Amino acid sequence: MAIRIPEETVNKIRQETNITDVVSQYVQLKKKGKNFFGFCPFHDEKTPSFSVTEEKQIFHCFSCGRGGNVFTFLMEVDGLTFPEAVIKTAEIEQIELDEAVVNDQKRHSQAPDSKKEVLFKLHEESLELFHHILLNTTVGEEALSYLTTRGLTREVIETFGIGFAPQERTLLYQYLVEKEYQEDLLKESGLFVERENGTLLDRFYNRIIFPIRNQQGKVVAFSGRMLKKDDHENSPKYLNSPETLLFNKRNVLFNYDKARAAIRREKEVVLFEGFMDVIASWQAGIQNGVASMGTSLTNEQIHMLDRVTDHVLVAYDGDDAGIEATKRATDLLVEQTDFDLEVLTFSEGLDPDEFIKKNGPASFKEFLTHGRDTLFGFKMRYYRRNLNLNNESQRLSYIEKVVTEMLTITSAVEREMYFKQLADEFDFSIDTLKEQFQQQFYEERKKRSKKNKPQPPNPEVRSTAFSHVEQQRKKLDSIERAEQLLLNRLFHFEEVWIQIKSLADEFSFVHDDYQMLYLLYESFLEHSESQATTGAFIDFVKETHLKNKLVEIELQSLSDEITAQEIEDYIDVISRKSRLQSRLKETQEALSEASKRGDQAHLRTLMIEIVNLSRLLKNG
Ligand code: GTP
Ligand code: MN
Repeated sequence: MAIRIPEETVNKIRQETNITDVVSQYVQLKKKGKNFFGFCPFHDEKTPSFSVTEEKQIFHCFSCGRGGNVFTFLMEVDGLTFPEAVIKTAEIEQIELDEAVVNDQKRHSQAPDSKKEVLFKLHEESLELFHHILLNTTVGEEALSYLTTRGLTREVIETFGIGFAPQERTLLYQYLVEKEYQEDLLKESGLFVERENGTLLDRFYNRIIFPIRNQQGKVVAFSGRMLKKDDHENSPKYLNSPETLLFNKRNVLFNYDKARAAIRREKEVVLFEGFMDVIASWQAGIQNGVASMGTSLTNEQIHMLDRVTDHVLVAYDGDDAGIEATKRATDLLVEQTDFDLEVLTFSEGLDPDEFIKKNGPASFKEFLTHGRDTLFGFKMRYYRRNLNLNNESQRLSYIEKVVTEMLTITSAVEREMYFKQLADEFDFSIDTLKEQFQQQFYEERKKRSKKNKPQPPNPEVRSTAFSHVEQQRKKLDSIERAEQLLLNRLFHFEEVWIQIKSLADEFSFVHDDYQMLYLLYESFLEHSESQATTGAFIDFVKETHLKNKLVEIELQSLSDEITAQEIEDYIDVISRKSRLQSRLKETQEALSEASKRGDQAHLRTLMIEIVNLSRLLKNG
């Protein structure tokens, strides 16, 4: 007899699931535009033809033609029945199921516990012991008060399942033996060290225990922090489980399981150096934070982030080591992904946890919103550390470095802003800096072409740096398309013409050509007596490229009927862009005001806003 899961439960699970979470357990997915791509798990292939569309919550392989939703995927890939696939989905997404459903499923599942399952259970039970000792026993008191002094609430201690392993070195051992775990399994768990005589001792003792969870929220390892400096003379501050069947530190990010929902919601992940930073910011209300396991970022970890967001805020410690680590991490992220990166630099060498303790959660949040720096801004500061900018040669080499770095900035607006900043700061003319930039740009290009690479180093840089010279023809973006369609409509429907006219100054086309056509059409109507056809209008327009545009507009295939909604939609698309443009202009004006006043704090906020606005504009 098969299990039956109520329809509403199935619907709930379907709604709360993101197919990429599930598929990425099996396929390494890479985001390209709106979709994710990877190698199809159903057949061998050399180029990835398997895609997942989050918007529609479906997968599809262009090569073998398989496709479906999240349940279909699990049924095919794991050979499950429909109810099994539903339950597995709920497990992966940590969606709570009715007890009745779970029991029913347990009764039906015949698979014997695999070794992995047993190890998961062992970790879960060890966690319960450590957690209980911390919260409810006298041997845990000192550790608990240490955590309390550090500002952790009981609630957050419970959320993260923090515990304490006391001095006694066979406590966990005895506890687990009583629960009838086999000696071999205990050895494999990584939670014990073997004495010469072969007996086992608890690896973790007299340490605060932080459970490390995998993507599904299952405990796979522990990290133990020493309580006091002198407790462990020659041992590390943090001691981790070794690599085991469950735990490979390369593909674990601390708090990834809990942060995932917030990362999606905030469309951003905050990357910290330490567990305590993640926990302290969680308590301060920032729940999209993760940390690597005390090592530099691995490719696996980068891919985990890549699957859930495009935006990374690096918030490492404010000391020298942290700043160097930030540089390394951002270099790595730039190399491997196209994340939008921003950086948070804590002053006075504070780490995020210390910052929160010192300044409170509100100013931490404030700093997170307004204190962030663009990647380039960070690099400028990074390069000038330890330099004496009063020394002319150091100053020149700094400027040269920064200008070279500008080759990587693809937004002309952003680049312009930094030119201005540099020029203001060092009393150079902007033109001199631009000249230097262009020179380096050509040199870079020459270098690349010598290496027999026909492609320019970065096509984006090329087209934005010299957009007026070598503008490439590209496909219509959504705005241009809306402009064409709207013009088409107003050439053919008098009511649309009247509607647009009535908007008067509130509306204009984004692209000059279309605004020009609109104005020409106005005077065309004024001049023509009766026969105001578009055929006649083509003759009325004299400039060839405008004529070509007009033909393009006429060739748009549109239905014979129009609706008010259709026109509203075009206007919306077009005005959004012009609103952004005018906001950008205003912000740029405010920026030069602030720069005249020398208002650094305001300057920074404005710069971020400019970068964001130009990004929005660029993405149409
Ligand atoms: P607190 O001192 O408790 O505030 O921790 P922290 O988060 O500030 O730690 P720190 O900045 O010193 O280190 C950052 C991260 O590196 C930690 O969260 C650990 O993951 C890791 N780490 C630090 N010290 C050690 C160590 O001695 N051994 C290992 N394996 N990892 C460490
Ligand atoms: Mn710290």
